[in-house]
Formats: sequence, C-alpha cells, structure tokens
Amino acid sequence: MLRVAVLVSGGGTNLQSIIDHVEDGRLTGVELAAVISNNAGAFALERARKHGIPALCVSPKQFATRDEFNDALLAAVDGIHPDLIVLAGFLVVIPPKMVEKYPNRIINIHPSLIPSFCGTGYYGLKVHEAALARGVKVSGATVHFVDAGTDTGPILLQKAVEVKEGDTPEVLQRRIMEQAEWVILPQAIQMLADRKNREEQG
Ligand code: GAR
Repeated sequence: MLRVAVLVSGGGTNLQSIIDHVEDGRLTGVELAAVISNNAGAFALERARKHGIPALCVSPKQFATRDEFNDALLAAVDGIHPDLIVLAGFLVVIPPKMVEKYPNRIINIHPSLIPSFCGTGYYGLKVHEAALARGVKVSGATVHFVDAGTDTGPILLQKAVEVKEGDTPEVLQRRIMEQAEWVILPQAIQMLADRKNREEQG
C-alpha cells in the first residue's frame, strides 16, 4: 500500500477525484492517510471528513513566523509517515526542509502545460487568464515531482486540452480540470503505487 498525504488549500475537486478513483476501484494499492490544509475553511477538509479520511489544518495564522509554520507543517506531514505527498491545489510554498526530506516523493498538479504559464505567481485562475491573454489554442495540465524550484521538477504526466473561442478563465479552468487534472492526477498516483508494489515484490 502506498500511504498518501494530500495537501490542499481550497475547494478540493482534485482531492475528490482521487477519493472517487480509490472508492470505485480505479486507483488501487493506495491508502489516503490524511488531508492537510493551510486554510481552516477549505471545503477540501469537509470532503475528506465525509469520506472518513483524517483531516487537519496547519495555518500560517497560527504561528508568529514562517519558519515556525514550516516546521509545524513538516511535523504534521512526518506524523502521517507518508510514502507520497500529493499537492492537490496546495497554494503555499513547500518548506525547503520538506523538499529535502522527501525527494521524488512529492508531486504537484499544475493547470497548464509546463513550461508554459508556470512559476511564481501562476496559480489557480491566474494561469488561465495568462493563457487566454497569450491566445494559446491548446493548454492543459501537468503532474510533476516537486524540487527546490517553483514548478521546475521532473514531469510525470501531461494532458493537452483545447482552448475554445469565447472561453473565460473560469470556463477554461473547468474544462482543464474535467479533461486533464481529474484524470492525470489519479493516474500519476497509480504509477507511483505500482512502482512501490514492484519494488516490494523484489
Ligand atoms: C487546480 O486547478 C490546481 O491545478 C491548481 O489549483 C486548483 C485547485 O483546485 N493548482 C495550482 O495552480 C498550483 N500552482 P481544487 O482545490 O478544486 O483541486
């Protein structure tokens, strides 16, 4: 079993896709060990609780300094003993110590075809606003390993999605979620669960 911790900040539709895939057997060999949010009001936390997954909040607001928050977030993650950490719409910079401690064991979903529209400042709707402003005809989503940079780690999976005439950022965001993000994030987790399974078998 691959023990997975999912880190979220908001609505949690990617988390929901992972949960649905596990519950209906499309994603196997995976245990959703816990969900952590930086935001106490994140609907993602409710989604987790509704499905019996331990859900906790570690917010920067609870700490005097960023270093203290970073240490608390790392301690919370360590406490889960995860094999894999999935950033599913986690809009906080990952503590450098966490990146060092979990090499090739943190993955992120980004709503564009990296290296387009990624890096500092490109998150959520801003990514789709930038894609529409540039006039690209194709966008999509990327799952990549997290390294010390922002959206710079090795790419695991990508899926392209058509941009249509008259798209608003919200419409494009939804199409990319439905056609790419909710598909390739569970797929990437399955790849890593299969890899662990093969390693365990010898
Ligand atoms: C998703 O579109 C995800 O790709 C994006 O935030 C959204 C979270 O939605 N992540 C980033 O922009 C990371 N740079 P969700 O909470 O409904 O899964």
